[in-house]
Amino acid sequence: MSDAPDFRAVTEAQQRTWSEGDFAMVASLVVNAAESLAEALEIVPDERVLDVACGSGNGAIAAARRAWGNTVGADFVPALLERGRERAAAERLEVEFVEADAQDLPFTDASFDVAMSIFGAMFAPDQERTAAELLRVVKPGGRIGMANWTPDGGVGAMFLTIAKHVGGPPPGIVPPAFWGVEDRVHELFGDGISALEVERRKSRQVFRSVDHYLEFFRAYFGPIKAAYEKVGPEGEAALTEDLRAFLTQANTAGDRALVIEPEYLQIVATRA
Ligand SMILES: C[S@@+](CC[C@H](N)C(=O)[O-])C[C@H]1O[C@@H](n2cnc3c(N)ncnc32)[C@H](O)[C@@H]1O
Repeated sequence: MSDAPDFRAVTEAQQRTWSEGDFAMVASLVVNAAESLAEALEIVPDERVLDVACGSGNGAIAAARRAWGNTVGADFVPALLERGRERAAAERLEVEFVEADAQDLPFTDASFDVAMSIFGAMFAPDQERTAAELLRVVKPGGRIGMANWTPDGGVGAMFLTIAKHVGGPPPGIVPPAFWGVEDRVHELFGDGISALEVERRKSRQVFRSVDHYLEFFRAYFGPIKAAYEKVGPEGEAALTEDLRAFLTQANTAGDRALVIEPEYLQIVATRA
């Protein structure tokens, strides 16, 4: 019997998790990270750009504003792609939204000048395959940009809190936040890249209170909604207590509000 993880089964389970709730509602929290990455990638008109694990299109829309269209967004949740189409239509931007798995992109080799992913491709369970796909679809000399949560930077800690209650990734699956570690990014892209720029940045998430955050994330954020479903009524109070403790210690706004400032790694790699 092989000890290799069943990437297909994990991917299918993750697809169901991300289909829960409505990530399009949460996506406004990371608009700044998408805009910052699009700037760092120095996208110019008529470059062809791919946003991998695009959700409702933050990255694709930021790219299309700079490339004057020519952008494709790919994600494995059809409902999020539909929200991306609505947003692009409202801005009269030319973006094509395509259903796809980040580990098996339906695009020919070297067909994009730029591939980007904002807190998206980092979640695909087969990190080697995901890195290989990002490299494969980008032209030599093109750029790969990612925004990846760091392991100890807030969101990584929140996922650890959830894992205490629902279990961590199956054996053999590297935690997603390892994409937020520079050495791991080097390891994954190997000699497929000729340069790597990294920058630790902070995002900012603003809520009225811990209760407001929990109510919102429980309704709309697939991984938290699914965690509550998994622990059931018996585990609900303990999960809430741990999330509440995590949020309270991470709060930077004192009594005024709940503000958390999770850290992430912004990376811009040059395709060799
Ligand atoms: C945290 S959300 C970020 C969405 C978007 N990039 C944004 O900035 O708003 C993670 C996204 O990754 C997508 N995703 C996760 N694993 C994926 C995979 N293997 N293939 C395609 N999409 C994936 C989810 O469906 C979800 O839309």
